[in-house]
Amino acid sequence: MSADDPIHNPFRENFSSRQNPDSCVLVIFGATGDLTHRKLIPALYNLAVDGDLPTPQRVVGFARREKSDEVFRAGLEDVNRKVSRQGHDDALWAQFSQTITYHRGEFQDTDDYRSLAKKLDAIHDENVALGNRLFYIASAPEFFDEILIGLKEAGLNEAKPGCWSRVVVEKPFGTDLTSAEHLNQMVGQTFPEKDTYRIDHYLGKETAQNLMVLRFANTIFEPLWNQHHVEAVQITCSEHLGMEGGRGGYYDKSGALRDMVQNHLLQLLSLVAMEPPTDLSADGVRDEKVKVIRSLRPLIGAKAVGENVIRAQYTAGSIGGQEVVGYRQEDRVNPESLTESYVALRVHIDTWRWSGVPFFIRMGKRLPKKATEISIHFKKPPCVLFNRQTSANNQNVLVIRIQPDEGHSLRITSKVPGSALRLEPVKMDFRYRTSFGKASPEAYERLLLDAMAGDATLFARRDEVEEAWRFIDEIEKAWHSGDSPLPMAEYPAGSWGPEAADDLLQQHGQIWRRL
Ligand code: BG6
Repeated sequence: MSADDPIHNPFRENFSSRQNPDSCVLVIFGATGDLTHRKLIPALYNLAVDGDLPTPQRVVGFARREKSDEVFRAGLEDVNRKVSRQGHDDALWAQFSQTITYHRGEFQDTDDYRSLAKKLDAIHDENVALGNRLFYIASAPEFFDEILIGLKEAGLNEAKPGCWSRVVVEKPFGTDLTSAEHLNQMVGQTFPEKDTYRIDHYLGKETAQNLMVLRFANTIFEPLWNQHHVEAVQITCSEHLGMEGGRGGYYDKSGALRDMVQNHLLQLLSLVAMEPPTDLSADGVRDEKVKVIRSLRPLIGAKAVGENVIRAQYTAGSIGGQEVVGYRQEDRVNPESLTESYVALRVHIDTWRWSGVPFFIRMGKRLPKKATEISIHFKKPPCVLFNRQTSANNQNVLVIRIQPDEGHSLRITSKVPGSALRLEPVKMDFRYRTSFGKASPEAYERLLLDAMAGDATLFARRDEVEEAWRFIDEIEKAWHSGDSPLPMAEYPAGSWGPEAADDLLQQHGQIWRRL
């Protein structure tokens, strides 16, 4: 065999021979909720517009309110008109919406699952291609157990001969390790792990998927991707929104650490820091990701947490010229709340590759803009030739913009034209929109298709979720127990967060990137 002969290429194999999504009935529990209206149905509609949705296809919305199919569809249409990525076409919607029906049911009432089973059997009898069932649990988390029990009692967890039956579980997947283990046990008693899809919509974002391609389909980055060349890594998720739409009630029980770090940001971290997987199978990738989370140096006790984690709440301020109230004044938030709307962490991954490299993670509500990015800060060049001119400013930085304006940029140092020797940082930039000429699909589009195709690579596995909670629980414990609670800093809405978060980086000669 010559060196030019094609070799086993896991990327090519996986991408070209990925199973096609199967026709199925998607049953959504919590069908009258925000997620169904704003994310799931628009995702299906856009897949249908692109011709990517397998046909035939059906959606059955299951919820408690009394509604006819027509009223249910009209409510979905209203929202789709406002949020659909590719706009709303009346004729296409008329056709698409015929595939959606409503089933009124109480989550705790077995009879309602039995009548659902009858309805699904009738759909199957009408069309043999519709024997596959995808149960999407998008309800409030307190109903997860009841729904799983109901599915089991009605035998809906059992696949029909020659068909499949799968479950998608939305976040929050537990509120701590104990509740996540309980939920995993409940799910495990109802569906095998291979049919369980724990959704983390950040994994469905195009740029998050591209992280593995950037690292392992290029030769220039991976040799530098380690403690010898990387000084620090930053992961930032900044949001300008506060507690709109009555979210305060949920959020005040959760906080930034549980709401975003335990899941989305630790998932991004694991994609940045993992070793190359041996193949691109779901378990091949997840085996490597979970090792990263398991290698996080635990932050145990008030001292470790106090030194490495900053929590804060926003006070009144202004965003985009609009005055906004402080966190404690938000609707449905306890006026004496001790829940953080901002968190910044310094973490270490105790592996050979990352020994000594700090990873800085921050997430905040009511920051100046909505943006998520990862930046890899490389070590400074030796101070030999341009020593007086070498500053943090001409450190090479690779920025991976997860959203918006998806793309990558690489900061390099260049000579300013002219007779004097002056150095300045310049940027090499790649933008998805410019290079590929179209907007990326929404995360839910990709994830729904993957669940229909039986590909769990972009879904969290049981051990990943539990390991992430193990790490997060210690921080929550240090915050909420003990006689002298750790401080809660403040930041005005519209600012980049509390000063204390800057101190985390200072001793490493770093500053947070301005997004
Ligand atoms: C959700 C969180 O999981 O993700 C929200 O519960 C957050 O608080 C949202 O706003 C952010 O998602 P995205 O895709 O808009 O960045």
